[in-house]
Amino acid sequence: MKLSIIGAGAVGTSCAQWAVVKEVAEEIVLIDIVPGLAKGKALDLAHSLPLLSRSIKVEGTEDFSALSGSDVVIITAGKPRTPGMSREELLKINADIVKSCAENVKRYAPDSIVIVVSNPLDAMVYVAYKVTGFSRERVIGMAGVLDSARYRYFIAEALGVSPADVSALVLGIHGDHMVPLVRLANVAGVPITQLLSQEKVEEIVKRTKYGGGEIVNLLKTGSAFITPGLATIEMAESILKDAKRVLTCSVLLQGEYGISGVFLGVPVILGRKGVERILEFDLLPEEREALLAGAKVCEALISQLEL
Ligand code: LAC
Repeated sequence: MKLSIIGAGAVGTSCAQWAVVKEVAEEIVLIDIVPGLAKGKALDLAHSLPLLSRSIKVEGTEDFSALSGSDVVIITAGKPRTPGMSREELLKINADIVKSCAENVKRYAPDSIVIVVSNPLDAMVYVAYKVTGFSRERVIGMAGVLDSARYRYFIAEALGVSPADVSALVLGIHGDHMVPLVRLANVAGVPITQLLSQEKVEEIVKRTKYGGGEIVNLLKTGSAFITPGLATIEMAESILKDAKRVLTCSVLLQGEYGISGVFLGVPVILGRKGVERILEFDLLPEEREALLAGAKVCEALISQLEL
């Protein structure tokens, strides 16, 4: 199996690092247009192989033809946010970058499955979907796994329990209108609504929604990269190993949840063919309304794109 990662910035490097640690592919390629950057990062990563007792091929390059033969391609290229900036403000600049990455994927890795990580996420997945012309099963965005991990962590922290025992789901857009579902969040099957006060739950939901921004404000020069990288590799691993994990991913909705034509985070089964099934379930009226608010934002972003 071959995994390629476009963009050797913080998130791309984190993806490559987790991919090596988790041994998700035999061959890992890191690509960046900045001369020497991907090569340097890949070389540094390759030096860890003896310490990890791994025999993975790790390569860095500026040459997009290295994408050829990739089973999965991750697109991380683009600018990150700076303090005070919304993900949506990155639309124009990152759309051009993602467009050129997607053209290269189409040219060199026409059979691959693409995972997009660049922001504003749901609109950037749309760009990759349009430019590659791949089926919707093969163009997926990473956000729900990250947002759900943040939600799970904050619940575990509030309860003083192992994060491993918290199961929770964040649906919808990767932005202020994301939808952390309260009624389904649980600790080893016990609903959090029975364990935490409503105020505490509301505080956790808010912190989850702005979890990315909290880190941007602390770092000042970039956005989160450690868990974004791991969340992306969870998705890549399920595809490369045909593990059929159920992960919340940004996919093109075509009537599911009563929504069409936009990418939004919903739970899907990820396997060798990419999105193998979208899991649909009944939402409460207020959850549906929140999901629709995100759909409207995504629609507005898409309408500004010039592809
Ligand atoms: C975040 C950015 C990567 O949520 O969107 O951290």
